[in-house]
Amino acid sequence: MTRLVELDDSGPRKLEASDIDDEKGDIAVCQCGLSDSFPFCDGSHRATRDEDDDATYVYEDGERREVERVVTVDDGEDE
Ligand code: FES
Repeated sequence: MTRLVELDDSGPRKLEASDIDDEKGDIAVCQCGLSDSFPFCDGSHRATRDEDDDATYVYEDGERREVERVVTVDDGEDE
């Protein structure tokens, strides 16, 4: 599966000791792109559990929509 995610930051976010979850003792970094607390995981990834491997999705306002795959030059599909 592929997910189209819009991000508007243009630089890194340094993680600090204060970012550690006091209860769990770790820092969970979002890798699905859906977190409302990005760059931290907030559990929103649960919505991706039934995604099809060959599909591409957009999530907007809590709704998931399947879209045509966007092919870019960097996909290397032409090589
Ligand atoms: S990995 Fe993205 S919300 Fe958990």
